[in-house]
Amino acid sequence: MTELALQLSERQTADFEMIGNGGFAPLTGFQGSADWQRVCDEMRTAAGDYWPIPITLATGLECEVGDVIKVTSDDGKPLGTVTVEEIYQRDLEHEAKSVYRTTDLEHPGVAAIHEDGTRCIAGPIQVDALPDHEDAFQRRYLTPAESKQAFADRGWKRVVAFQTRNPIHRAHEYLTKAALEVSDGLFIHPLIGKTKAGDVPADVRMKCYELLMEDYYPDDRVILGVNPSKMHYAGPREAVLHAIVRRNYGCTHFIVGRDHAGVGDYYGTYEAQELFDEIDLDELGIEPLKFEHTFWCNKCEGMASNKTCPHDADSHLFLSGTKVREMLGNGEMPPPEFSRPEVAQILIDAYKEDN
Ligand code: ADX
Repeated sequence: MTELALQLSERQTADFEMIGNGGFAPLTGFQGSADWQRVCDEMRTAAGDYWPIPITLATGLECEVGDVIKVTSDDGKPLGTVTVEEIYQRDLEHEAKSVYRTTDLEHPGVAAIHEDGTRCIAGPIQVDALPDHEDAFQRRYLTPAESKQAFADRGWKRVVAFQTRNPIHRAHEYLTKAALEVSDGLFIHPLIGKTKAGDVPADVRMKCYELLMEDYYPDDRVILGVNPSKMHYAGPREAVLHAIVRRNYGCTHFIVGRDHAGVGDYYGTYEAQELFDEIDLDELGIEPLKFEHTFWCNKCEGMASNKTCPHDADSHLFLSGTKVREMLGNGEMPPPEFSRPEVAQILIDAYKEDN
């Protein structure tokens, strides 16, 4: 038998890691055609568990059913094996339509599945080692088993998780603190896997999270971890995946704000929240905490939303992502009501270094 070897891409490495560390439970391998079909059509695995986005291994590697493939991470670290149970073709249009709600190739998630291709191999993985991460991430790394233990050690019963792929601005801080007011603990769990061009790189964001941990969050109520997943930008479906992952890390509640995991104008502001209305939350095992679009209100003199603020829009501070990026790129501080100056400074410095 020839020895088969496959170097995973960055996105595949992240999937391998999430399956391997338990973050994608109940998955134990890359999904086959029966899973793929039911995930697309019904948001469930073939076995019947909620699962919103197919986790597939697309590759042109010549192999046969029964082969055991040795896999390495994108930077060449041996990780373990995939045992081939099935080789199949997936229908990219169908996956795009059902999971991403669009077939537009400009959508970064749709573009990514097209880039990966139609031919998939499926089967269980065996993990010898998890991928390496740079120190700034590794020191905050917790597996699901470890985070569950950390929550239990602190006696936390009601633990709210916060997913983010952005620096923590005032709105994010407000959501997390409002959620913490009614919880025992907060798990800040930024995604550090592959994001699209234009998103702030994870190492820069990490400095912002650390700063907040140092100066603005209470040590005994907040844990900062890292989520090695990649982004799909699948909006509602990805919000459900994000929730399942945080359930696996031991959280009981999950923050879903405006346009969660969205990109451009592909999804409505509250579409992600609405998808949870169609889900049996007891079965899902984690509850969404839904937040309205929040902003700074000059009249309230604080963060607010249309739910809590009676004032006109001209009292509200709204800055588009494009505007904020433009300001930071020019070395200009956004207003402190939008972003803490220390956070803005980290971002300005990163933009400077980049140019
Ligand atoms: S995401 O892709 O991870 O959803 P982001 O890091 O911007 O992007 O958002 C993290 C979480 O905060 C998401 O639940 C998002 O809906 C929520 N959120 C971000 N900004 C706001 C805001 N101004 N008002 C309400 N929710 C927000």
